[in-house]
Amino acid sequence: MLIFLWAESQGHVIGHRGELPWHLPADMHFFKTVTTGNTIVAGARTFASFPSALPNRTNVVVTHHDASEFPAGVVVLNSLDAVRDYARERPEEKIFVVGGAQIFAGLMDDVDLLYRTTIDAGFDGDTWMPTIDYSRFQRINRQPGIRNEKNPYDYTFEQFQRIQ
Ligand SMILES: NC(=O)c1ccc[n+]([C@@H]2O[C@H](COP(=O)([O-])OP(=O)(O)OC[C@H]3O[C@@H](n4cnc5c(N)ncnc54)[C@H](OP(=O)(O)O)[C@@H]3O)[C@@H](O)[C@H]2O)c1
Repeated sequence: MLIFLWAESQGHVIGHRGELPWHLPADMHFFKTVTTGNTIVAGARTFASFPSALPNRTNVVVTHHDASEFPAGVVVLNSLDAVRDYARERPEEKIFVVGGAQIFAGLMDDVDLLYRTTIDAGFDGDTWMPTIDYSRFQRINRQPGIRNEKNPYDYTFEQFQRIQ
């Protein structure tokens, strides 16, 4: 099962200069909770934004480069078709596609579930979530985030399932 997992701010901004535009530890915690023990699929630019391969989950990187350029243990796939095959061969696994925009755009027709965090604030950005046709999905969960000193924005966690 392919699942998109991302956070977007106003105007669908998801990235700025290779990083996240915001600091929202509650969303980082959510990311860690849902992906631990599962598989993440990241484009090479998104993978480069991590300190290293993320622990306690399978790390898949999508790149045109060779596996030898990545840390041992990272699964390197050289095309989106290879990602599709990887998911098809593992129907029981939750495979979280964690961006960025290039990878989301390329797998838009393949995704089964959407895990979206919406941050109700404006940030400068240079990377946006590709347009999603939400008429093809139904919302199955909505949970407001808790705003506090460390998480100084209004934000909401939602999940959408593809309508069969
Ligand atoms: N807010 C969020 O939830 C969120 C989530 C993820 C990322 N982001 C942000 O988004 C930005 C990165 O996104 P991005 O769209 O620029 O980059 P990206 O999708 O993370 O990575 C792009 C790279 O993926 C590889 N790639 C893409 N399509 C491929 C294909 N068909 N076959 C093989 N390799 C392919 C290429 O790597 P090579 O050049 O190595 O071949 C390409 O340069 C960063 O700012 C990041 O922080 C935000």
